[in-house]
Amino acid sequence: MSTRIPLVDLKAQYESIKRELDGAIARVMESGKFIGGEEVSSFEQEFASYCRKKHAVAVSSGTSALHLALLANFVNGKLKRGDEIITVPNTFTATAEVIHFCDNKIKFVDVDDYYLMDVEKLRDSISLNTKAIIPVDLYGQTANMHRIMELASEKNLLVLEDAAQVHGAEYKGWKTPIAETGCFSFFPAKPLGTIGDGGAIVTDDEDIARKARQLRDHGRSDRVEGKYEHTLIGLNYRLDSLKAAVLRVKLRHLDRWIVQRRNNAALYNELLAEIPEIETPKEFAGNKHVYYVYTIRTKERDSLAAFLEKEGIATQIYYPIPLHLQEAYCFLGHRKGDFPVAEKQAGQVLSLPIYPELSEEQIEYVCDKIKEFYSR
Ligand SMILES: Cc1ncc(COP(=O)(O)O)c(C=O)c1O
Repeated sequence: MSTRIPLVDLKAQYESIKRELDGAIARVMESGKFIGGEEVSSFEQEFASYCRKKHAVAVSSGTSALHLALLANFVNGKLKRGDEIITVPNTFTATAEVIHFCDNKIKFVDVDDYYLMDVEKLRDSISLNTKAIIPVDLYGQTANMHRIMELASEKNLLVLEDAAQVHGAEYKGWKTPIAETGCFSFFPAKPLGTIGDGGAIVTDDEDIARKARQLRDHGRSDRVEGKYEHTLIGLNYRLDSLKAAVLRVKLRHLDRWIVQRRNNAALYNELLAEIPEIETPKEFAGNKHVYYVYTIRTKERDSLAAFLEKEGIATQIYYPIPLHLQEAYCFLGHRKGDFPVAEKQAGQVLSLPIYPELSEEQIEYVCDKIKEFYSR
């Protein structure tokens, strides 16, 4: 067996559904329709129905989905400049940068042992200026959404769920996102990824969907004959037809891939259980984790990662520097120790290959190498 194990293998995924993908790509090329059209609207209907939401608005990336969802709430008057929005520091920078670019104040709150927003700390950090919460469903697992939603309704706050990493995840039998509005990324490596960047806002709020549709397309009037009528100042955040056609094919395989990801995680859990130095990922009671990444924790993280790299096994750290300690956010005035749980996790987390096409033999090889590392 080749000992080179990548973190993700999108070529293997392509090979497994090549005929369907090639057919979809040819269909778009032959149609000559590359912006909007039936591929995009059909994908929106199919993805909304998959997420059990009323609307999906396909956009150019997960970042634009978050940005547009916030902007739509400005247009409908639920948010204004200077409002405080709470999120977590252990996320991809996109979650916080959109808050900044809407001229809102970023407030971080620490996370729990599941890498998810700590609800008690959230309660303590809500101030009179707080207007919204952006919980992040990290690594493939939904945040403690019912408690977050309860708190939000008690304090009259908006909840926008960053679901960039959790396509197909469930929480107490409910499909994610649990909030009325959630944002996905279709970055190629995500559980549902396209050929380049892509994203979507899914929502039960008709008004948000309508505003987001207008805003992604230069604020165009939604009158059929209103191509050059702009009722809002918008942006070009559209998803290309080709990317939508690819997503329609991949969506049909998503549930099968989730089963494979979960089986892979179960095998890792079983094989790594005998190594006391390693903490395997925990599934929150009632959650269906989709294992976008499989993240272990160990004090020897850096030397283990270097050892595995030498053995041909790719790993990744999501995320090595929590946002409050990043240079880009130094204007917030945070220092080491402000969010101790997120900081400790950032020093110990390591993600192993978990993609659906990974074989049992490859997982056994990774675990054997980890055992070898600890037995030296
Ligand atoms: C938690 C989270 N939020 C937002 C984003 C942004 O998505 P995109 O890269 O599609 O802009 C990502 C992407 O990695 C993410 O992981």
